[in-house]
Amino acid sequence: MRKIAVFASGSGSNFQAIIDVVQSGQLDADISLLVCDKPGAFAIERAEAARIPSFVFTAKDYSSKEHYEEEILAHLKASGVEFIVLAGYMRLIGPKLLTEYKGRIVNIHPSLLPAFPGKDAIGQALAAKVKWSGVTIHFVDEGMDTGPIIIQERVRLDENETRESLQRKIQKCEHKLYPSVLQMLLTQGDVINDTKARAH
Ligand code: GAR
Repeated sequence: MRKIAVFASGSGSNFQAIIDVVQSGQLDADISLLVCDKPGAFAIERAEAARIPSFVFTAKDYSSKEHYEEEILAHLKASGVEFIVLAGYMRLIGPKLLTEYKGRIVNIHPSLLPAFPGKDAIGQALAAKVKWSGVTIHFVDEGMDTGPIIIQERVRLDENETRESLQRKIQKCEHKLYPSVLQMLLTQGDVINDTKARAH
């Protein structure tokens, strides 16, 4: 069973979608750890309810990204995590984690990248009055939502689209797409074999 960690900063509805498919047997993975940078985030309650250990931290308590990522890395290693899933984790991943988990960190973003990277992609799409937006799942590199794209799915904006309605549509799409892409990635031998090769 592949050991994964989910990183989240907020409500964790994508985290929940992943928990649900693991519990129903549709995703062959063991969610070994939640990493959360926001004490009080609802994602932490979801982890507790599913009996998933969590590492919660506040970036301000550390002198640098390198220092908190060092601690994250210690937790990942202690839990035997092979693959990292960012699900609404609103921080750039630094060199420390990128080096250790090269090619094994994925992110989901609520737009058709490279359009509308960074914060509030949904607000950005509405402000730009586009007819189509969507969801992107991509490998993570050092940039902000810039890594190689794995898959994208379009979502159409209606004339009277609101932030709430667009967010609903996008999240509905995310909650289906992320689990299926993860199943594909985690059952691809070379992703994990590469992990094992690195561990030795
Ligand atoms: C999701 O829509 C995800 O795509 C987005 O944050 C939301 C988290 O929702 N991520 C980004 O914007 C990353 N740049 P959730 O906490 O309910 O899963």
